[in-house]
Amino acid sequence: MKTLVAYFSYIGETELNRQVVEINKGHTEIVAEKIARMTGADLYKIEPVTPYPKKYDDIVAIVRKENEENPKVEIRNLLPSIAEYDTVYIGFPIWYRTYPRVVASFLSNYDFTGKTVKPFCTNDEGSFGIALLELKSQLKGADVKPGIAIHGADVNAADDKLEAWVRQ
Ligand SMILES: Cc1cc2nc3c(=O)[nH]c(=O)nc-3n(C[C@H](O)[C@H](O)[C@H](O)COP(=O)(O)O)c2cc1C
Repeated sequence: MKTLVAYFSYIGETELNRQVVEINKGHTEIVAEKIARMTGADLYKIEPVTPYPKKYDDIVAIVRKENEENPKVEIRNLLPSIAEYDTVYIGFPIWYRTYPRVVASFLSNYDFTGKTVKPFCTNDEGSFGIALLELKSQLKGADVKPGIAIHGADVNAADDKLEAWVRQ
């Protein structure tokens, strides 16, 4: 059986050390690529049909609305099936204490019963917020392992921590 690293990562203005900064490669993407290299897993980037806006004020408004209304976000490149994977790493940035709705929408397409799920996130402060609780309730039947949260500013220096977590 195979391993999948599925992640969403945002490019645009984000919050880092409580400041708004523009980034050109997502923090979660950097971590996802490292995990795929360490495990030999397939790498898959979740992409919405309508890209999220790059301006901070716009993304903030959209994310607040999405978190309130929990809409089904259309995915541009859905995987037809995840049946061939027995372990799935799920990665995301924390957007107001949980995972982006595009990730929730992605997950809702598949049956995770019997699969091992390893969550990872990048964030600005705090840890997973309520994301792990929500993930466990969304992926009923999956064996959700302890996750790893990495501060966005530290992703390039996270190899040892990541390696130890991957091997758990
Ligand atoms: C709309 C928005 C909301 C965010 N909310 C939080 C939050 O609630 N807690 C937190 O620690 N970081 C928050 N952040 C910061 C991101 O989680 C952090 O910068 C992350 O590393 C971004 O990952 P990415 O580059 O892969 O998208 C937020 C960022 C954005 C753009």
